[in-house]
Amino acid sequence: MTNYDQIRKQLRDKPKAWLVTGCAGFIGSNLLETLLLLDQTVVGLDNLSTGYRHNLDEVKELVSPGQWQRFRFIQGDIRDLCACREAVMGIDYVLHQAALGSVPRSIEDPVATNGVNIGGFLNMLVAAKDAGLKSFVYAASSSTYGDHPGLPKVENRIGRPLSPYAVTKYVNELYADVFHRCHGFRTIGLRYFNVFGKRQDPDGAYAAVIPKWIAAMIRDEDVCINGDGATSRDFCFIENAVQANMLAAMASACDRNEVYNVAVGEATTLEGLFVHLKSVLKANGIDYRKLPVYGDFRAGDIRHSLADIRKSVQRLGYGPVYRVRQGLEADMPWYIRNQASDRAPAQASRDSCRQDVIPLPASSDSARFF
Ligand SMILES: NC(=O)c1ccc[n+]([C@@H]2O[C@H](COP(=O)([O-])OP(=O)(O)OC[C@H]3O[C@@H](n4cnc5c(N)ncnc54)[C@H](O)[C@@H]3O)[C@@H](O)[C@H]2O)c1
Repeated sequence: MTNYDQIRKQLRDKPKAWLVTGCAGFIGSNLLETLLLLDQTVVGLDNLSTGYRHNLDEVKELVSPGQWQRFRFIQGDIRDLCACREAVMGIDYVLHQAALGSVPRSIEDPVATNGVNIGGFLNMLVAAKDAGLKSFVYAASSSTYGDHPGLPKVENRIGRPLSPYAVTKYVNELYADVFHRCHGFRTIGLRYFNVFGKRQDPDGAYAAVIPKWIAAMIRDEDVCINGDGATSRDFCFIENAVQANMLAAMASACDRNEVYNVAVGEATTLEGLFVHLKSVLKANGIDYRKLPVYGDFRAGDIRHSLADIRKSVQRLGYGPVYRVRQGLEADMPWYIRNQASDRAPAQASRDSCRQDVIPLPASSDSARFF
């Protein structure tokens, strides 16, 4: 029995009350689904700025009516301290996901990103600390590694941030640390590395690469690779990220006030990803024959990203079950069901080619690293 199995059993036997902020978004709605399937009580806080009601509707379909009744949705904004205080009432564990994601968005509108990701984060931290909650787990980011050239990325070696988004995620970690020093409030930050899976938004200029490419391929549109295709990422399937959240929430006190990498420990180049997607789509009956179009490198992006996950493995008992290919295979039927239809054509892929600027140095071969 894995640590994760034990925790799920423990939670089923003795259900808890959870707050998931950003519950209508990609990661938040997957956390919500898992928690409700475990018969937990969940409060969700979301202002629906980048999340969707249809994500909540989809979760409703996947759980029983009794489980759905244990969910209470608050449409509210984490920039509003009162909303945060209301949301934490009666809660045991917080999984704080609400934020404005996307490096390009933060470069275009740093004020909005700062307001939500720092002001909103601080509100949540204050509300949780004042309510004396057992546990506060928050979404940190691999962007915090910034321009540090080392690979794989180890938690205690970071560089200078490369975007306003990265600044905000780093400031979250600083606030979390200061709240421990000043108030003894222990938190856990999960530095996600390119999470992907069902309910990740494929549309718009700020969409992540996997849902954007799958949507383009299903519509038989061009796929645009930013740069030369050798840029690599440690793509992490959503089930692994959900597992990390549950383990972190239940971690012992001595493993709190820490940040942990959440990834697989395996680098995939963009060209490698393109090949995986083509073949998984083909296995699902879609034969995409176009070659990728190459655009400029994207501002604020690092060249290679690969996690050392030993700390999360050793201290949280984390064990990623899905590698990239397995994650794509698991959720491809969902992408096909949900993306074949009526979404805005061409615009998203055109936007993705409208890039400027430079990669940063640092390189490594594709490698698997635990
Ligand atoms: N997806 C990734 O690969 C990745 C990588 C690193 C870090 N993260 C972090 O993980 C978290 C979740 O990301 P995601 O990919 O699910 O993004 P998402 O955009 O799908 O979800 C974010 C949710 O937060 C909500 N939200 C935004 N501003 C809010 C506000 N002011 N008040 C209340 N709710 C608000 C949005 O409506 C949305 O539902 C974010 O903190 C993000 O920075 C994600």
